This record gives sequence, C-alpha cells and structure tokens, in this order.
Amino acid sequence: MRKLFCSVIIAAAGKGKRMNADIPKQYMNIKGVPVIARTIEKFECSDCINEIIIIARHEDIDYCKKEIIEKFNFQKVSAVIMGGDERQDSVFEGIKAVNKNADIVLIHDGARPFVKKEHIEKIVEEADIFGGCVLGVRVKDTVKVCDESGYVCETPERKALWIAQTPQAFKYDIIKRAYEKARVDGFVGTDDSMLAERVGYKVKMTEGDYDNIKITTPEDLRFGVAILEE
Ligand code: CTP
Ligand code: MG
Repeated sequence: MRKLFCSVIIAAAGKGKRMNADIPKQYMNIKGVPVIARTIEKFECSDCINEIIIIARHEDIDYCKKEIIEKFNFQKVSAVIMGGDERQDSVFEGIKAVNKNADIVLIHDGARPFVKKEHIEKIVEEADIFGGCVLGVRVKDTVKVCDESGYVCETPERKALWIAQTPQAFKYDIIKRAYEKARVDGFVGTDDSMLAERVGYKVKMTEGDYDNIKITTPEDLRFGVAILEE
C-alpha cells in the first residue's frame, strides 16, 4: 500500500456533564492512568498515524500539555487547540489545524480509550478505499422509534441498525468540505459522518467491537476497569 499521511483529531474539549464529577471525565483516571492519556497512546503507537491534534477546553490547555503530553512523552502531538461550545465546533478547529498534505483525517473522542490498534489500521485502509468510514457495532437490542408521549411509532429492522463509534476516518478534502458546508448551512449533526452523508458522500461502516465504549456516565469507569482487567 502507498504510504499515507494520516492525522487524528482527538476531541477532548467537553465538560463531561453526565459524569457529574469535579474534573472533566477525560482527565479522570482509570486504573491510575487518565482516560485521555490512554486514548492518545493508542494513536501514538499506531504506525499508520503521523500526527495527533488534541482539542481541549481553553482552561485545560496548559494542564493537558504538562500533565498529559509531556508527562507521558507523546511525540506525535503537533498541537493542542482550543475547542468550541459543541463537539462539532471543536472538531472544526481541529480540521483547520490538520497538516495540509494529509491524505486521511481520523476523528476520535478523547473519552474512548479502548479503541484497538487493529481497528485504527483497518479504518485508515478503508477510508483510503471508500473515502469515508465509521467504526461501529451491530445493535444487539431491538430499537424503537417513539413519539414525544412515549408511544412506539416504528420498529426498524434490527439487521440494518448499527451503533456509530469513533474513530471515523475520511479523505482530507471530503471531511474539510463537509465541515465547511455544515458551518455555512448552520447544520449541527451528532457525528462526523453525518456531515459527509448530507452532502452526498457514501460512507462505509467498518465493524469494530463492543469494548470501544465512550466514557460517559460514572458506571462507565467500572466497565473500563473490567475491560482492562480482562
Ligand atoms: N467534546 C469536545 N468539545 C465539545 C463537546 C465534546 O471536544 N464542545 C468531546 C468530549 O470531550 C468527548 C467527545 O467530544 O471526548 C464526545 O462527547 P461527549 O461524550 O458528549 O462528552 P462531553 O460533552 O464532555 O460530555 P457531556 O455530554 O456529558 O457533557
Ligand atoms: Mg456532550
């Protein structure tokens, strides 16, 4: 395979409201190591990744540089950039900072520390082939669509349903164009792929695994310990 230049944007500028803790969840420890350090390490150690861009809250930038990047001696981090109000604003700041010669841009949640290196590699390969792809897993439960009063209006066929995780990976011009168009249109999506889909790009689903959880609520810290102890 031709050598690709791959940048990863790690979105870590959230407040972590649902975690209900004193510090943002990305700086909390799981088995003694901060979530964000575990996340960065996965990309630092992936041979296919050339640069890592971290998006942090303005007030955490110094802490992130000193207590995470310097302390864990991460070499591939090219910038720590201030995020915005919504995740989409944060990622957009990252896209603007990506090396202009990048072939593939990956976007990953700082709060997803259990992504596997083999899946990072797979998603890079598939983004190069298909233009855009999303790591995900098949839905295990039946999903119901309900109205505002809680009545079921629809039961979509389960075999077509997937849970979208991150990383999501795209050719650089595709994701740049998708984000710029969303900004112009004032569109806010719930993941990165959605922005590419809405401007007509076909996005491929890449099967990952159920360990790649997003640390969101307090019980996820317990699940995280269980994943590490396996
Ligand atoms: N994120 C970000 N910028 C924002 C909001 C979120 O970079 N303005 C990041 C978070 O740090 C996280 C990822 O996007 O790594 C996924 O978001 P989520 O799990 O919703 O994290 P938070 O927004 O921090 O949590 P909450 O919604 O509970 O407040
Ligand atoms: Mg959020």
